[in-house]
Amino acid sequence: MNINPLTPVIGAEVRGVDLTDLSEGQFQQLRAAFTRHSVLFFRDQPELTPAQQVAFAKRFGPLHQHPAAPTLAGHPEVFVIHAHKDSKVANGNGWHTDVSCDPEPPLATMLQLHQLPPSGGDTLFASMYAAFETLSPSLQHWLLTLTARHESEHIYRGRYSDRGVDDSGRSYPAASHPLVRTHPDSGRLALYVNPSFTTAIEGLHAAESAALLGLLYAHQQRPEFQVRFQWTPNAIALWDNRCTQHFALWDYWPEERRGHRVTIKGERPYLSPGQPRHTAMRLSQSLR
Ligand code: SIN
Repeated sequence: MNINPLTPVIGAEVRGVDLTDLSEGQFQQLRAAFTRHSVLFFRDQPELTPAQQVAFAKRFGPLHQHPAAPTLAGHPEVFVIHAHKDSKVANGNGWHTDVSCDPEPPLATMLQLHQLPPSGGDTLFASMYAAFETLSPSLQHWLLTLTARHESEHIYRGRYSDRGVDDSGRSYPAASHPLVRTHPDSGRLALYVNPSFTTAIEGLHAAESAALLGLLYAHQQRPEFQVRFQWTPNAIALWDNRCTQHFALWDYWPEERRGHRVTIKGERPYLSPGQPRHTAMRLSQSLR
């Protein structure tokens, strides 16, 4: 198995493994690479059947059920990612962490794309470890004391009506999470707010909350923290929702892009007592 880092902070491409036939030793190697690089990419895979994709994802733990999205007939764990000329929305077209509005947001997401537009449709991933570790120590210490509200009504209500979902009478999740969370495997601290689901920092006036969130979002989106994945047919991305955000660019309309996504159940985010860490990354411009 070859694991090639794509940037110093996030993302690695894995070659030389067949995800449908992985020994326990290979799986443990992949798990360690996942903890280290936060997002893994696999290009040389066959198109996985839904059962094969579910079986691989389940090696990380039980699967998460999406609160809103329609699933594949006969496979309730598989969320069909599909955008085409008549789509009203394309999933993930904005910075977010998957389903952070859930009290127990998903640990990881695995996406395989089967159909791609002739160009475009890349996905950007950003390290929330790097985002936190490059803030000043004073701001880091204040952020450790804060919690934020994450909501989803504004995102999910009516979102999938064109795919036959009638959500009248359904309610959508909301939760409060620490603004900085401890990663249970690496022990590192990650910034845990995102512009899609986070609606307020608790205990601040609305204007203070909006100003601080604006500063954090601008900082999180710095290119130094990112890796950009250009998909090839049947490529797979496996990302850690506890320490990353992503943005699936919908720059290919009216072309079509389609695949299968499975998410792995996570735990309630927590912050362990401990000292924040600082990364000496050279940040060229503002916010430094
Ligand atoms: C998502 O946010 O799950 C969609 C990611 C993608 O389509 O690249």
